[in-house]
Amino acid sequence: MLIKTPKNCDLKENHVTPENVYLNRREVLKGMGFLGAGALLASASAKVNANWFTKDEPSKFKTTALTFTPDANSEQLILTPESKVTTHNNFYEFGAQKHQPAELSQQFKVNPWQLSISGECAKPMTLDYDDLTKMFTLEERIYRLRCVEAWSMVVPWIGFTLADLLKKVLPNSSAKYVVFETLHDPEQMPGQADRRLGGGISYPYVEGLRIDEAMNPLTLMSVGLYGKTLPPQNGAPIRLVVPWKYGFKSIKSIVSIKLVSEQPKTTWQQLAPNEYGFYANVNPKHDHPRWSQASERHISTGGLFARNRIKTLAFNGYGEQVAHLYKNMDLHKFF
Ligand code: MTE
Repeated sequence: MLIKTPKNCDLKENHVTPENVYLNRREVLKGMGFLGAGALLASASAKVNANWFTKDEPSKFKTTALTFTPDANSEQLILTPESKVTTHNNFYEFGAQKHQPAELSQQFKVNPWQLSISGECAKPMTLDYDDLTKMFTLEERIYRLRCVEAWSMVVPWIGFTLADLLKKVLPNSSAKYVVFETLHDPEQMPGQADRRLGGGISYPYVEGLRIDEAMNPLTLMSVGLYGKTLPPQNGAPIRLVVPWKYGFKSIKSIVSIKLVSEQPKTTWQQLAPNEYGFYANVNPKHDHPRWSQASERHISTGGLFARNRIKTLAFNGYGEQVAHLYKNMDLHKFF
């Protein structure tokens, strides 16, 4: 992803390579004398533990087992190991480097939590922490996740459909779009307090969907993964998962969902409108201005220097369920 200042969103080696491979590779390079201390320190914020060469520490955050209907996994997708799903993250509120969210979020407080659903609807409401896991029947959804940076994973999410939630507030006929906002709490989210650590984003992080996209049965509000509640680095206590769109649409740690009549301005679209569109549907035929979107580096179990490059699928493989939403649209114009 790109943020103009500083330029830390460019597609770098660490954006397309499994973290353990990347770290190992740096270790090899360091051993060969290609990486000096200056090179390492230059990319680390003062607040961050800059020890690149320690192994991932087990998460200090306490997750709880959830009760849910398992996914039949009819496509027989091979899951990305949990250790990678929870250590290779994009959550700029906790740092713009892939390893930082897991390191800097373990004290994040998710209970109490309030999620308000408001705007163009007859029955606005506010859910608290317990409502998130108890108010809806939870199901597992094994989905491909495709980041705009051209890496991908397969994640067993747990949650409920956004449609189930929106139906409860009774949207009215002016509800054409849905806007989502992440918590804004610089005391807990160091990337919101330190512009450099947080990648230059103006917080809170905002995302949006058209109402028919929001009501599509694939669109999930996730409260867990791998059988347990979400760890903070993956967006605890509740996040969006829109599997046919680039990962940046799947906003984390949501505190507000608002039904509105106009298309909202979203975080990445505002930062670089020529690179990140409002729709952000996975499209192998529409390249990012600075890299191809025809293929992706799949983060799975590969060893040192593993290639794991696979072809990117239109709508990330979910065309049958969602292509009709864009029937008469020019997908190069509305990217
Ligand atoms: N939500 C917030 N609030 N902040 C972020 O930085 N990053 C997005 C998305 N949601 C992001 C966010 C991006 S770019 C991706 S690819 C996914 O989260 C990554 O989700 P994961 O870390 O659970 O794999």
